[in-house]
Amino acid sequence: MTTYENIIVETKGKVGIIRLNRPQALNALNAGLIADLDKAVKGYEADQNIGCILITGSEKAFAAGADIKMMQSMGFTDVFLGNFIGDWDGVARARKPVVAAVAGFALGGGCELAMMCDIVIAADSAKFGQPEIKLGVIPGLGGTQRLTRAIGKAKAMDLCLTGRMMDAKEAEASGLVARVVPAAELMDVAMKAAETVASMSLMATIACKDSVNAAFETTLSEGMRAERRIFHPLFGTEDKMEGMTAFVEKRPAKFKNK
Ligand code: CAA
Repeated sequence: MTTYENIIVETKGKVGIIRLNRPQALNALNAGLIADLDKAVKGYEADQNIGCILITGSEKAFAAGADIKMMQSMGFTDVFLGNFIGDWDGVARARKPVVAAVAGFALGGGCELAMMCDIVIAADSAKFGQPEIKLGVIPGLGGTQRLTRAIGKAKAMDLCLTGRMMDAKEAEASGLVARVVPAAELMDVAMKAAETVASMSLMATIACKDSVNAAFETTLSEGMRAERRIFHPLFGTEDKMEGMTAFVEKRPAKFKNK
């Protein structure tokens, strides 16, 4: 298995786990960490045995944002011509479902990374925010876009303009996270969710993710058409036959990703 400088990877059954691991900087995102993350995600995407990816951080921080020490000396020409963070959204481009298990700080790019994941499960210790405004900039990795779609304009404006943090309870009530659990149970609950997703037909989970994401990016009628276009072909899979036959025969389905 590949070893990385900024992340720890581990495979458990059909779940590929990625733990962000820059403890000295509260998992702040830099080019090295993003390169490691991209490589690990691509590896799990290519691995036929993996049905779900789980991304987590430490107890103290999921990720405290882009690395400010790295950005401190950067000017406009550097970021514009270098297309800074232009390709930091590899997680959002993953086709397989991605679960985020978030404890502690998920700020700036850390919050944006969590929002690139498909199911966000938060510990009661989690704190979300887009504090870039305090640095004289704005979020650059989806914080004004995915956050606004997830929690609405009123809350997104509040968070992005004041830079305040939102606790896990508020994040759940706002629709940013799917579940909040006691910190000690975070990994168990997130693993169970990831294992459940991974136990389904990968054909169906990829299709399902694609279809839900269409709701994020299109009108209702476009989204309904997209859903139908994705729904019908699933009837051509062996897994659909197995899923429905297993139900009728009152037994668990055994999907083959075919
Ligand atoms: N970049 C670089 N280093 C960071 C960091 C970051 N985003 N966040 C924390 N660190 C470092 C600190 O500098 C510190 O290192 P040193 O001990 O070497 O000084 C170490 O991590 C521990 O941090 P603190 O001592 O500050 O810990 P704390 O518990 O007192 O505070 C915190 C925690 C509130 C998260 C605070 O660290 C903080 O405010 N961090 C910055 C958060 C932020 O502004 N994030 C947005 C970044 S910009 C961005 O993400 C742009 C984008 O949209 C992509």
